[in-house]
Amino acid sequence: MRKFQQRVFSGVQPTGTLHLGNYLGAIKNFVDLQNKFECVYCVVDQHAITVDQDPHKLRSSIIEVLASFIACGVDYKNQIIFQQSSVPAHSQLAWIFNCVSRIGWLNRMTQFKDKAGKNKENVSVGLMVYPNLMAADILAYQATHVPVGDDQKQHLELSRDIAQKFNNDFGVDFFPQPEPLIYGEATRVMSLRDGTKKMSKSDASELSRVLLTDSNDAIATKLKKAKSDSDLIPDSVELLKEKAECLNLINILSATMNQSQEKTLQEFAGREYSILKNKLAESLIEVLGPIREEIENLLNNKDELNKILAIGTEKAEEIANPILREVYKIVGFR
Ligand code: TYM
Repeated sequence: MRKFQQRVFSGVQPTGTLHLGNYLGAIKNFVDLQNKFECVYCVVDQHAITVDQDPHKLRSSIIEVLASFIACGVDYKNQIIFQQSSVPAHSQLAWIFNCVSRIGWLNRMTQFKDKAGKNKENVSVGLMVYPNLMAADILAYQATHVPVGDDQKQHLELSRDIAQKFNNDFGVDFFPQPEPLIYGEATRVMSLRDGTKKMSKSDASELSRVLLTDSNDAIATKLKKAKSDSDLIPDSVELLKEKAECLNLINILSATMNQSQEKTLQEFAGREYSILKNKLAESLIEVLGPIREEIENLLNNKDELNKILAIGTEKAEEIANPILREVYKIVGFR
């Protein structure tokens, strides 16, 4: 296998305000990786429309996700941030991958099964081929590393399969095997109300998630109401196996404070969960407060945000277009 230039790619859907899961599982790592890699971060609006979206809300969500990236610390001057639909290479490569990927592979995707539920015949074709577009996002940049939360692991495996099948089918060594980067103490942040469900934008309960735009009071209230336990906090993770909500709080606090689960448990063992929840509210307010303020500031200057997107598009195309041209040659288009 040839040696590819190391490059990071990741994307976030503009389907509503981002939450703590998006931050701790992904965006915090986006920021961290900027010191080591060339990074390309994308607002994936084409993925968003695989389920119904209100165009007006989608439009504002795209700008809000961009503002959130910057407020969290993504370095838009030295890295690339842009909107997926403004770089046609993503859909062009996705079409080719629709012809490389297999229906059997897509049928096995648990996220598709979850989202389609019993309604499989009536969901959009886009929802089914969503992972092929995701592979195109990554491979249009020949990206070698992809920071994501744990829920994207299976999609990343599919991207690797597509890269490999393309290379085999055409007898080339053209696409790298993109490596998922799933790390930190909160790779799967769970709902604050039900520790068996992941924290998500679509949960009916507002209390289930902390948003990047929540006020300090809202954060404190959500933490106070977070489900926990009347037992005292144990001193080992083993003892939290049956207590998903409690383990979730420990993980969130560890990730927010950049320390290991073990260290957090040592600190809080033998104490009540209310004490841990107070500390967590305090830490989250410290971390998310400045992010919220910066999002508000940035959203007051949409012209500037639009300029950042235009520059990002240009830089993204500089990488993706020559790669797509090579792919066209490989498949015999010209
Ligand atoms: P999306 O928009 O659902 O989520 C964005 C990122 O946040 C992570 N995440 C979580 N991490 C931990 N705990 C949670 N509760 C949680 N919820 C979300 C996700 O894992 C993700 O990293 N398909 C992707 C977007 C995408 C993409 C790509 C990602 C499109 N093309 C190419 C990487 C590379 C998605 O729907 O993420």
